[in-house]
Amino acid sequence: MTAKLLDGNVLGQKLRANFKQRAEELALLGTRPGLAVILVGEDPASQVYVRNKVNACAQAGFHSEKHAYPAEVDPATVFAKIAELNSDPKIHGILVQLPLPKHFDSDAVLDAIAPEKDVDGFRAENVGALMQGQPCFIPCTPYGAMKFFEDAGIAVKGKEAVVVGRSNIVGKPMAMLLMHAGATVTVCHSQTRDLKGHCLRADILVAAIGKPKMITADMVKPGAVVIDVGINRLPDGKLCGDVDFEAVKEVASYITPVPGGVGPMTITMLLGNTLESAERAARA
Ligand code: GUN
Repeated sequence: MTAKLLDGNVLGQKLRANFKQRAEELALLGTRPGLAVILVGEDPASQVYVRNKVNACAQAGFHSEKHAYPAEVDPATVFAKIAELNSDPKIHGILVQLPLPKHFDSDAVLDAIAPEKDVDGFRAENVGALMQGQPCFIPCTPYGAMKFFEDAGIAVKGKEAVVVGRSNIVGKPMAMLLMHAGATVTVCHSQTRDLKGHCLRADILVAAIGKPKMITADMVKPGAVVIDVGINRLPDGKLCGDVDFEAVKEVASYITPVPGGVGPMTITMLLGNTLESAERAARA
């Protein structure tokens, strides 16, 4: 079997066209969706992600601003900027790119963002609301992954889903979304015994580990839907996911490529969350 590709660039463009149109409609009423991105330090991957987020805003007709600080900045400076952005009516979403340098308390920084502008959905209130099934902002990466199922008509209800990785950014919210959609969810992580045994039971397998090509073809049930959240750089400079794409695509029914799968969908859903926030603000 050769799996069908779940193409994040194609689906992302489709959704972004809708977001752009809604942004234009909102602009006629006097509100332009606005995103502020805070970047601390010189991590090359974070710089690329932030650039992509800012460019995506421009293409969708959103206002965006980037606030970049050197790694050794006093956290008080960043807290002061967040406070300013919290009360800035031009800004509907505030995103602090993670990871932050070690001298930052990341939870405290995220908690400083006004809940109604937390477009990453990382604040405790938003995490709790998601857990209760009443989400305000859904974290962008798992949100983007769920859009693939919806768009391709892949049923989630009643399926066995296995999420490999238990991070706050991906693994935990992904498991929650799959559970709310009716899947029976198993979360595997670094302490899991018999990872292969768990993975082989998965109708839907989500890899969010951060280890190149760790999910091999012998770990995938024939016909499974495979979502690869990993973005790893190989010694030759090429990007690859957490899934051994070439081999697994011969076993799976659907698979996301890296690059061009979940990555563009993360940015798309960031635009979606920022737009929703602006629409809420305009209605208020
Ligand atoms: N670092 C890696 N992924 C993300 C994300 O989705 N949001 C933020 N803010 N930082 C990240």
